[in-house]
Amino acid sequence: MTPIRIKLFSAKLYDINSFNDINQSYNYIIEYHEQALSMKNVALTKDTDVVCIFVNDIINSEIIDSLHSNGVKILALRCAGFNNVDITSAIGKIHIVRVPAYSPHAVAEYALTMMLALNRKIHRAYCRTREDDFTLHGLTGFDMYGKTIGIIGTGKISKVLIPTLIAMGMNVVASDPYPDNIFAKNTGLKYLTNDELYPICDIISLHCPLTKDNYHMINSDVIKKFKQGIMIINTGRGQLINTTDLIEGLKSGIIGSAGLDVYEEEKSYFYEDRSDYIMIDDDLARLLSFNNVIVTSHQGFFTKEALYNIAKSTFENIRLGMVENIYPNLVNSDK
Ligand code: NAI
Repeated sequence: MTPIRIKLFSAKLYDINSFNDINQSYNYIIEYHEQALSMKNVALTKDTDVVCIFVNDIINSEIIDSLHSNGVKILALRCAGFNNVDITSAIGKIHIVRVPAYSPHAVAEYALTMMLALNRKIHRAYCRTREDDFTLHGLTGFDMYGKTIGIIGTGKISKVLIPTLIAMGMNVVASDPYPDNIFAKNTGLKYLTNDELYPICDIISLHCPLTKDNYHMINSDVIKKFKQGIMIINTGRGQLINTTDLIEGLKSGIIGSAGLDVYEEEKSYFYEDRSDYIMIDDDLARLLSFNNVIVTSHQGFFTKEALYNIAKSTFENIRLGMVENIYPNLVNSDK
């Protein structure tokens, strides 16, 4: 059988290493491209069976049509979310598969890391002691024990996070259009509506997908309902939050701190070294200027275990589709 040919876009060294390791058991022919897939380079996908992309490759219907006419059979997302792909335009043309779960622990632990670091101001203390400044002013935190945290979305990631928060003595409330009442009963979690949850929470952590309905779910109208000084954590997707409104909330003090692993306009910056350029994104520059905001570069997933699982599941998705015509992780149907 002819080896399966894959073109992998947005490839970083860590992707190349983990995919090459797993490929020892698959023997695919892989060509790595550092650039994101776009109309400018879609011609590279001629003579390819599979195209593999990540979270910031924005795939519109024009790119889908080009992939289709180039003969690409599978578009393999090496991530869980698929908000970056025009799924409907691919129906009947190309199979789109994803990795629905690779390590909920990685993201859950990261969200908790952000909360703890922000609360106890580790980011500031770290910089301070490196300058031989051993003072404590401005570094006061609060006991998480006894505080109320609101979890928006109780899927795979939250179900790892919530028991840890409960074990820390936190009062955990959550919202989800599809509540898991058995999980709630077993853990002591209480489901509320978003409007009930907003005014009582000391911390809110976002763990729902980006959908049309969830776009800018955190906006000025919602921020008005928050408890003064709330901490907001976003490891979900940048566009869940209206950044301009978040900045206003931070300036007014309603939002006491923010931990952002994702950002609305992250595509131009995240995963790139931009240190030789001036920053032209004023919102990102403003966020980075707050001493009560931590911005990281969409790295919640980034553990050894997750990288292994991503590569393994992506290659298995490709083998099942190309060899057995089975698509267990298909995101677009009717093909
Ligand atoms: P999941 O699909 O298991 O759970 C999502 C939950 O959110 C579902 O129960 C759904 O009903 C709920 N939901 C949808 N809309 C909602 C709303 N408006 N309000 C409340 N709940 C709502 O997803 P999982 O695996 O837990 O991941 C959650 C999100 O985390 C992903 O969609 C992705 O955007 C993000 N993510 C971020 C990563 C990172 O590196 N920062 C890595 C992996 C995922």
